[in-house]
Amino acid sequence: MKLLITNCSQIATPQSSRLVKGEQMKNIALYKNSTFCIEDGIIKDIVPDHKANKLIDENCIMIDAGGKTAIPAFVDCHSHYLFAGQRREEFFMRQEGKTYIDILNAGGGIGNTVNKTRLASKEDLIKKGLTHLDNALSQGITLTEGKSGYGLDRECEIKQLEAMKELDRIHPVKTVRTFLGAHAVAKEFEDRSDEYIDYIIHQILPIIKKQNHADFCDVFCEKGVFTSEQAYKLLSAALSMGLGAKIHADEMISTKGAELACRLGAISADHLLAVSDEGINCLAKSETVAVLLPCTAFCLGSNYAPARRIIDSGGGVALGTDYNPGSCNCFSISLTAALAYFEMKMSPAEILTALTVNAAAALGKATEYGSIEIGKKADILLLDTDDYRDIIYQTNKNLVKTVIAGGDIVYKDGEKKW
Ligand code: NIG
Ligand code: FE
Repeated sequence: MKLLITNCSQIATPQSSRLVKGEQMKNIALYKNSTFCIEDGIIKDIVPDHKANKLIDENCIMIDAGGKTAIPAFVDCHSHYLFAGQRREEFFMRQEGKTYIDILNAGGGIGNTVNKTRLASKEDLIKKGLTHLDNALSQGITLTEGKSGYGLDRECEIKQLEAMKELDRIHPVKTVRTFLGAHAVAKEFEDRSDEYIDYIIHQILPIIKKQNHADFCDVFCEKGVFTSEQAYKLLSAALSMGLGAKIHADEMISTKGAELACRLGAISADHLLAVSDEGINCLAKSETVAVLLPCTAFCLGSNYAPARRIIDSGGGVALGTDYNPGSCNCFSISLTAALAYFEMKMSPAEILTALTVNAAAALGKATEYGSIEIGKKADILLLDTDDYRDIIYQTNKNLVKTVIAGGDIVYKDGEKKW
């Protein structure tokens, strides 16, 4: 099928099939009054409207964008979206002075969600996941990460990953799965975190790889959770089995997580609120994506990650939501973009790059997703504006009118179409 979308007042897009770093992040292409053509789910052409006629043939369906702006669909490259229950009480306890790590170490936090997720059936999780993915789609996300990490035992970790495999099959928003068994020490291994890491390496990882349950392995490397040595041991094992590596790095204090991620060749180092100067230098020299999550800093009331210093030093930044029931019960792309602009001083063009092709790079998908270029997958948004920068200027409004995923219109004017 051939689809021609004409009369886009603006097409705004990064132009890359890999991580965009440093000052290149602000280089985006802007086409005025243009048409793009999709065939078999792939972008085939981008031409000025006055040349659209030559692309028309008897099989093509034409859609008038009515002056809307086209941008690549958003990629949420850091998300813990599949869990049971909620943690409202802890959320409000934090305002009364308890820290996230205090609550975690008192058996709340992640452990609280683990208890509920262990009790949930795979079908319950799929049902909840469908609601989340519908909401994600309505704000223009067509590719998301999905981390496990609320099972902390073989059975429940695999249950979470299998639920996300099924969600990926049935929903137009695609899920890249990350195994996060090392999200916290399971209560069965209390005070025996080394043994828990060995249990993951020997009893879970081989099955994850063999049965293709996940593409990446992640670890919460933080004081009071897992040490850098434990993270190194786990991720080296994961890499040797052919999984990619990710790290929750330097979220509360610096544990040299960014340095470790670069040394291992991890695909991403995530959070980085407390990244060291050395960590910033390492990121600048590597292809490891610095995944920044401003909604988490907002919800925890902490300082924001030093996006400017990372980009100005030559690093490549992606933005994600970090949606989870504890530190960030929010998956708003609008708020992520606004905080990146106002608090982290990123420019609109850098934010577009960070939410699209760089986020795709953090999931190993930049050759397919993240830009409107010939040969890329047609995952495209039509925004109700003539200037892409309105994703920041009009923070209060969902500008997403149409979502195209894999060449199909899957959402239009507030309704799903699949
Ligand atoms: O990225 N820091 C670890 N993991 C999540 C929080 C998960 C939770 O609290 O349930 C995060 O902030
Ligand atoms: Fe996280």
